[in-house]
Amino acid sequence: MKLWGGRFTKATDAAVDDFNSSIRVDKRMYKEDIAGSIAHARMLGARGIISRADCDIIIKTLEEILVDIESGAVCFKTDAEDIHMNIEKILTDRIGDAGKRLHTARSRNDQVALDIRMYLLNAAEHIKDMLVDTETALLKIAGENLETIMPGYTHLQKAQPVTLAHYMMAYACMFERDIDRLCDCAKRMRVMPLGSGALAGTTHPIDRESVAEELGFDSVTLNSIDGVSDRDFVLETEFCIALVMMHLSRFCEELILWNSDEFGYITMDDAFSTGSSIMPQKKNPDVAELIRGKSGRVYGNLMATLTVMKGLPLAYNKDMQEDKEAVFDSVDTLMMCLEVFPKMILTMKINRDRMLSGARGGFTNATDVADYLVKKGVPFRDAHEIVGKIVLYAEWNKKAIDELTLEQLKEQCPAIEEDIYSAISMQACVNGRSNIGGCAPEAVMSSIKRLKEKLRIS
Ligand code: ARG
Repeated sequence: MKLWGGRFTKATDAAVDDFNSSIRVDKRMYKEDIAGSIAHARMLGARGIISRADCDIIIKTLEEILVDIESGAVCFKTDAEDIHMNIEKILTDRIGDAGKRLHTARSRNDQVALDIRMYLLNAAEHIKDMLVDTETALLKIAGENLETIMPGYTHLQKAQPVTLAHYMMAYACMFERDIDRLCDCAKRMRVMPLGSGALAGTTHPIDRESVAEELGFDSVTLNSIDGVSDRDFVLETEFCIALVMMHLSRFCEELILWNSDEFGYITMDDAFSTGSSIMPQKKNPDVAELIRGKSGRVYGNLMATLTVMKGLPLAYNKDMQEDKEAVFDSVDTLMMCLEVFPKMILTMKINRDRMLSGARGGFTNATDVADYLVKKGVPFRDAHEIVGKIVLYAEWNKKAIDELTLEQLKEQCPAIEEDIYSAISMQACVNGRSNIGGCAPEAVMSSIKRLKEKLRIS
């Protein structure tokens, strides 16, 4: 018999039991469900809505059920539909009438809204810790490569020399914003919906604030209809996760390129590469490719939930049960990626010679030649034009700009002197960009310091 079976004259079709059930997906919220029920029971007891004795036995038994679930002694049932009714059913089987009183002044609609919020708040904490691990790895690589010169790109064309440290810090800044975004999203998630009932609130004299306080929420929802029908926090979490995946994916794309024979800037460690079943020579960056690939599914989860919610009339609709499969998949996928990612980058070999020779090609110091001329009094637009000609000339002669003789350079512009060479070396290009946020070692060092202070790591 179903917990809601009173008005039914027929058993549910077996196929419908299976179809309707979400236990397979939502059983992972058992801890949150039990914590929520304990807080609810305590409040019902304190308010005299249920007796002290009932309250005590409910709480004690829920604690025992938690231990039993964790030890694997509990078998959830598909026909009990979801985690909420499974636990209530186990409770009632164990303590009878007292168990049946737990659901007073509550609906599964506010119960599930509570459970997902609690689950995702916890998951967000976990993700933030993992993002700190990733940032820590980036800060380590950055600290060791303040003077590792490599080309920076625009349009995937060599643009200006930068350092690997600067590059790594670019990603560290993204992940830092990701942490901020998760914190911000958590603020809206720490609003407690229990007490919304099915949609209209409850006639019982409940105390929502005490439940919120016991469960670590900052406040309570202000509208019972919104309390049960809001899934913005699910979407925001999915978006935050999608954005982290986008950052990881861009990074992985670069690593895949850098690991290629054409670039040769890094060599992935054997432990983070895989081979080919036919080509004996192959060593593929599968981990990076998979992270890039998984970002597609995570974006899909966000789109799926947006689409589920689109056009749903207030308040609860069963469609909303579909939210969990998507958001849990996003959480799991991101956690899997963040588990391997820092390990992968910490073990990759950095081929500094290749990076430096990459930076030397492609006239990456052309802007610095223009800046040199500006410092000699040439207006920037004229300098730009002159250097364009120098680049053409160097290209015809198959030389880098700093491989041209002073005579050749002077022919293009008489303002050029011997000091040009020290002004446009790769080191000079990098070291000269010492403003805040620039790529000079001292500037990057101060960014590293600021980020470490923020993350409280040494
Ligand atoms: N398993 C449901 C869900 O995840 C719980 C809420 C069910 N409420 C209802 N009225 N059927 O959305």
